[in-house]
Formats: sequence, structure tokens, C-alpha cells
Amino acid sequence: MKIGIIYFTHGGHTKEKAEEIAAGIESKGVEVRLFSLDDELDTDYLNECAGIIFGTPTYVATAHWRVVEWLTQNRTVKLGGKLGGCFATAHYAQGGGDSAIMSLVGMLLTKGMLVYSGGAALGKPFIHHGPVALDAVGTHYEESKEMFTLFGERFANKSLELF
Ligand SMILES: Cc1cc2nc3c(=O)[nH]c(=O)nc-3n(C[C@H](O)[C@H](O)[C@H](O)COP(=O)(O)O)c2cc1C
Repeated sequence: MKIGIIYFTHGGHTKEKAEEIAAGIESKGVEVRLFSLDDELDTDYLNECAGIIFGTPTYVATAHWRVVEWLTQNRTVKLGGKLGGCFATAHYAQGGGDSAIMSLVGMLLTKGMLVYSGGAALGKPFIHHGPVALDAVGTHYEESKEMFTLFGERFANKSLELF
């Protein structure tokens, strides 16, 4: 069972949160690899994945254009039928992290992915659309670590259950 995390980062926050998710996935005995959109992606590995998670910083209350660009132009990684999930980093609670996630969710659905967040079905902490880390709201960024790792655990569990 393999899972991939594809993200874009400018300042490093989205990479850090991707690593926290990866720790949760690994804790369930599932292989995971992280791919920055600034580096070359391992297409063979990604095609073997049961699930792919997409991470984006929030820019102008939506997903970063580099993530949108990849989802728009990718022809080599087959996304249809895989489990998909999304997370975001942002400054503020009202800054649009949730909108950023939902703008990607629509693209994942269009690609035929089975989109999963755990929602409210697994109890607290509720991760409705996907985890969001806020870097300009007190200590939220640091404190969200547990939630990101838990998201990884839940995503891995669902992948094992489905595939
Ligand atoms: C050009 C630009 C636009 C941004 N727009 C928003 C925004 O609309 N809402 C928000 O909450 N944060 C916004 N941010 C903050 C980033 O989403 C946030 O700092 C994020 O953690 C950066 O991720 P990174 O370190 O992975 O690049 C913006 C940052 C930049 C540079």
C-alpha cells in the first residue's frame, strides 16, 4: 500500500504539514512519499499509489496556482479511482483555507478520485473538508500538528479498508 503527498510550498509551512501527515500514515504501516511541485515527480510511484493527498498554501483565499496548474495539466499520473484528500495552510481562520481545499476537491472529483477527509464521522477533532494550519493566529500552527498527523492516520486507515 502506497500513498503520495503532492504539495507546493514557498515558505516551507505546507511542506512541514505534509511531513506531519506522512508521520500519521507511516504509523499505520503504510508507505508514503512526499513530492514538492518544485521537484520532479516519480510518476511510476504515484501511479502505484492507492491514495494521493494534495497540499496548498492559501493565496487570495484559494489554492495556489501551482497546484491548480498541476491538476489541470497532469496527463501522466492516473488519478481516477484513487483516494484523494486535501489540506491547506493559511494566515487566518477567515483567510480562505477552507475555500482553497474546496477548490481542489472539485478538481479531484472531476478526475474521478474518491475524496476523503474523515469528516465528522470519526469524532473530535472534526476535520470537515481537510486540515488547515493557521500561521498568524496565536499558536494554532504548532498546535495543529496533532490534527495533521491524525488526518494521516485516518487517511491511511481508509485506504487500507478500501484497497
Ligand atoms: C501572495 C500571498 C497571498 C496570500 N493569501 C492569503 C489568503 O488569502 N488568506 C490567508 O489566510 N493567507 C494568505 N497567505 C498566507 C499563506 O497562505 C500562509 O502564510 C501559508 O502558510 C504559506 O505557506 P508556505 O509556507 O507553504 O508557502 C498569502 C501569502 C502570500 C505570499
